[in-house]
Amino acid sequence: MTTDGRALRLPPGPQGAPLFGLAFQVLRDPLATLTRLARQYGDIVCIRVFKQHRILLNLPGYVEQVTIVQHAKFHKSTLTKDVTERLLGQGLLISEGDFWRRQRRLAQPAFHRSRITEYGATMVECAETHSKTWRDGEVRDMAQEMMAMTLDIAVRTLFGTRLAGDVGNVGHSLGFLMRYSLRKARSPLKIPENWPTPANRRAKRETEFLDSLVYSIIAERQKNEASGAPNPHNDLLAMLMSAMDEDGTQMTPKQLRDETMTLFLAGHETTALTLSWTWYLLSENPTAESRLHEELRTVLDGRAPQVSDLERLPYLKAVISEVLRLYPAAYTIARTSIAPCNVGGYDFPVGTTFVMSQWVMHRDARYFEEPEAFRPERWLDGLENRLPAGAYFPFGDGPRRCIGQGFALLELGLVVARIAQQFRFKLVPGHRVVLEPLVTLRAKYGIRMTIHSRS
Ligand code: HEM
Repeated sequence: MTTDGRALRLPPGPQGAPLFGLAFQVLRDPLATLTRLARQYGDIVCIRVFKQHRILLNLPGYVEQVTIVQHAKFHKSTLTKDVTERLLGQGLLISEGDFWRRQRRLAQPAFHRSRITEYGATMVECAETHSKTWRDGEVRDMAQEMMAMTLDIAVRTLFGTRLAGDVGNVGHSLGFLMRYSLRKARSPLKIPENWPTPANRRAKRETEFLDSLVYSIIAERQKNEASGAPNPHNDLLAMLMSAMDEDGTQMTPKQLRDETMTLFLAGHETTALTLSWTWYLLSENPTAESRLHEELRTVLDGRAPQVSDLERLPYLKAVISEVLRLYPAAYTIARTSIAPCNVGGYDFPVGTTFVMSQWVMHRDARYFEEPEAFRPERWLDGLENRLPAGAYFPFGDGPRRCIGQGFALLELGLVVARIAQQFRFKLVPGHRVVLEPLVTLRAKYGIRMTIHSRS
C-alpha cells in the first residue's frame, strides 16, 4: 500500500505459493537465482521475501538512477548492514549521512592518484617477497597465497607497518565470520549473539582475533607518538589518528577501530580474490595467457614493472577488466530507500530495498558479446567508454563508489605483471573450483594450482 492507501503497482516477478522456496533459493544460490529472475522477468523484478519486497534492477539506466542520479534518496541496505556491521561497526563502508561524508573526506587524501603511485614500489616488493618461496612444480592454494600477499601490501602501504604472528588465519577468520553473519541474517530463528552456542563462541573468538590485529596496529603507532620520536608516517592511519572534528575533538577509539578495521579488511580481501580469479581464468585460457606473457616480455624485457609501465601494457589492463567483469569480487550491491522514489516508472515507498548485481549485469548479452567467454580483447577498442553508465560497475558507482578503486587497479596491475613474468599456474587436475558467494565472491575449496617457473 502507498501512504495514501492506494494499492502499490509493483514490477513483474514470481507470484503465488512457492515464494518461501524462492526466498530460500535467492539466499542459497544468489548467482543462479538472480540471473534466472532477470532473464525471466526483465529489467525490473519484484521479489517478495515474506512480507517485504526486494526490487532487482537489471537495466544500466536503473542502476544509474539509484547509485548516481537519485543517490540522496538511498542508504546502504539493511541486507548489507546486517552481515557486516558486527565486524565493521560504523566504518566507511556502511556509515551514512554527514558522519560518512566527513570520514570519506578524511580518508580521501590517502587515495589520491599522486599518493597511491608512491605505494607502487612496495606492491612490487611484496609480490617478490611472497613469490620467492614458490618452487617449480609445487602445488599451492592461490586463494590463500593472494590473501597473504594483499594483506601485507595493505598493512604496509596504508598503515605503515608489518603484521607479526599468525596472519595466515585472517582469510579463514573472515570466511567464517561472513558465513556466520549471512546464516544469522537469513535465519528466521534469531538466536542472541551472547548465547554460548558453538557458532557464537567461535564468532566471538574470530572477531577478537581480528580486533587484536587492528588494535596492535593502532597501539604501535600510539606508542611511537607517545615516545615523542619524530613521526615519519604520513599514511592513512596517521590521517585518521590526527583528524579533528570542527569542535576540536579527535575520533573516539571505537571510531578509529571501525575505520581501521574497514580499510584493513576492504583493502585486501577483494583484491586478493580478484588476483586468485585472474590466475584461475588465465590457466583456463592459454591463448590469453600467452598473449599476456608476450606483452610483458616485449615491454618489460624481464625487469620489474613500475607504475609508469602500466599505460604501455594494454593487454594486462584488459585481462584485469575482464576478470572483474566475470568474477566481480563484490557481486551485488544493495540500497534501501529513505525517501519515496520512482525507478523504471514505478513508485516505491520509503524502506524499499533495491538489489543491483554485477554478476548478472556483467553477463548480459545486450552489453557484452558472448558474455560467458573470457575475452580480454573485448576491452581493447574502447568498450568501457561505449558502455552505458551502470552496465559495468565492479567498484560500484556514484558518491559511494569504492574509495580504493585506484589503489586496487594499481595493485592488480603491478602484482599480475610481476608474477606473470616469472610464473604460470595450472589448476590441479580434479580440483573443483566452486563459487561461494558470501559477502564477497570466494572459491569454496580454494584454488589449488601447480606453480610453473617460467625461467
Ligand atoms: C578489486 C578490488 C575491489 C573491489 C572489486 C571493490 C569493490 C567495491 C564496491 C563494489 C564498493 C561499493 C559498495 C556499494 O556501493 O555498496 C566498494 C566500496 C568501498 N571499498 Fe572497495 N573494492 C576493491 C578494493 C578496495 C580497496 C583496495 C580498498 C581500500 C584500500 C577498498 C575500500 C572500500 C571502501 C572503504 C568502500 C566504501 C566507500 C564508501 O562508501 O564511501 N576497496 N568497493
